[in-house]
Amino acid sequence: MTAASEAAPVLEVRNLKKYFPLQEKGLLRRKIGEIKAVDDVSFVVRKGETVGVIGESGCGKTTLGRCVSYLYEKTAGDIIVRGGGRVFRLDELNRGNNSEFRQIVQVIFQDPFSSLNPRMSVLRSVGEPLLVNRLARGSELEARVASIIQRVGLSVSHLQRFPHSFSGGQRQRICIARALVINPQLVVADEPVSALDVSIQAQMLNLLKDLQSEFDLSYLFISHSMSVIRYMSDRILVMYAGKIIESGSRDEILRQPLHPYTEMLLKAVPKVSRRGSGRLQDASGGEPPDLLNLPSGCVFHPRCPYAKEICREEIPALRAVDDQRQVSCHLAEELVVQGVFD
Ligand SMILES: Nc1ncnc2c1ncn2[C@@H]1O[C@H](COP(=O)(O)OP(=O)(O)OP(=O)(O)O)[C@@H](O)[C@H]1O
Ligand code: SF4
Ligand SMILES: [Mg+2]
Repeated sequence: MTAASEAAPVLEVRNLKKYFPLQEKGLLRRKIGEIKAVDDVSFVVRKGETVGVIGESGCGKTTLGRCVSYLYEKTAGDIIVRGGGRVFRLDELNRGNNSEFRQIVQVIFQDPFSSLNPRMSVLRSVGEPLLVNRLARGSELEARVASIIQRVGLSVSHLQRFPHSFSGGQRQRICIARALVINPQLVVADEPVSALDVSIQAQMLNLLKDLQSEFDLSYLFISHSMSVIRYMSDRILVMYAGKIIESGSRDEILRQPLHPYTEMLLKAVPKVSRRGSGRLQDASGGEPPDLLNLPSGCVFHPRCPYAKEICREEIPALRAVDDQRQVSCHLAEELVVQGVFD
């Protein structure tokens, strides 16, 4: 998306760190280490664009999304969100009173089953953000809920029903309606289709795309599936062991990846249609690293087919290749890693 590359950032993340303390068992529960789930991550998301975050299980994707949406307190770094004519610095937010921020940033989670209160009707669930933020009530609230519920592909006759009577796909539609009913600017979508049947994943991705252009939304779109990321993203961040190891436009990452790990992820993509229904198989070539016992030098070196001596000794910095592109690999300039022709 070219327009998005010039648009103002809705989200700016600078040197974000989220470390989880590791405590010993027993009464004293002394801190014996820490898990660096997100470690010095910086990026922006611009108005109307989708930034995809890809990486294997445990690399820190969810933690990143939860920090950005203020569900986790960050350990360090800056998170700045712009929307509704205001600038929100997460440092300055108050846990008890962040309703204005919540109107700008909404989250769609992986599991539509646990995301909805089983005792609340669709009308109450979807209407709750309007009520809590004092944006509408009574007949106006009902009208707004009815409008968004139809927009996500359900009908007004569903409004009085409860979550148990819906399929997984329908529940995710309800969750999307709940996230969008207050017109947010940024949606953090954490594996929003992973729990759904493969046959309906593509419909849901297309719905999210349609809603994005209709509401001029920005997405931080998290997935372990390269097929999904490929279908949804304008730009892609590749994460490994809590860090971004490569970033660039969707086309650059797919056609000319620079990092051997990106190549490994692309090789693991099953051959699927462009409708985004395929899932990433486990990336071949070994296991993701133990965050408590990271390898020396480049943390990817035990799995890297191109590793040289320097890779075992020196940590490669994440460096700019051009103004849109970053990579952390000592040998990025000399390697010819394989992309896919899309
Ligand atoms: N609340 C927590 N307390 C302690 N450690 C955590 C917590 N949440 C995540 N972690 C650890 O942080 C690391 C990153 O986890 P995270 O859930 O962000 O990964 P992920 O990329 O979303 O993985 P997946 O693809 O499986 O969802 C993991 O090692 C995980 O065990
Ligand atoms: S720095 Fe070395 S080990 Fe790391 S990805 Fe590059 S070539 Fe592979
Ligand atoms: Mg996750």
